[in-house]
Amino acid sequence: MTTCVYPGSFDPLTKGHLDIIERGAKLADQLVVGILVNANKQPMFTLEERMRIMRAAISHLSNVKIVPFDGLLVDFLKEQGAKTVVRGLRAVSDFEYELQMAQANRDLYPEMETIFLVTNVQYSFISSSVVKDILRHGGDISHLVPRASLEVIESITGGK
Ligand code: PNS
Repeated sequence: MTTCVYPGSFDPLTKGHLDIIERGAKLADQLVVGILVNANKQPMFTLEERMRIMRAAISHLSNVKIVPFDGLLVDFLKEQGAKTVVRGLRAVSDFEYELQMAQANRDLYPEMETIFLVTNVQYSFISSSVVKDILRHGGDISHLVPRASLEVIESITGGK
């Protein structure tokens, strides 16, 4: 059985992330979405909230599972029996960081590969940071996050 890992902070999940999950799920028997526990010093959504937001959006995908992880991605890959990481690339500006991360990971675990999926153009401006900024200022995020996730986000933020 082939297993791919799609790691990220997912603070919160966006439509762009979901697109990568749906496409990544077609590349392997199983796609493990690895949610980084310590997303950054102060994630807007707790791990449990990020998992709820994600769970709501992936119920139609039978070969996708959500697993929190902490520590090194390469150790998580080994735990999951995976040798392939999937990441989305939105723009050239993503590339430098992604290249460095892919090379650092291969330095630690030479048997692994990183596959980059090019983000669909309609999602290329969407990021979790943009979603959070709009949320903080009371704007409309309904077109930026999966429909099933919106309800969960609103229940957490109080629809503000
Ligand atoms: O959604 P993000 O925040 O861009 O995802 C970044 C992530 C989680 C993929 C990356 O920070 C990560 O893999 N962290 C685990 C720590 C690690 O393995 N670091 C060494 C490789 S740079």
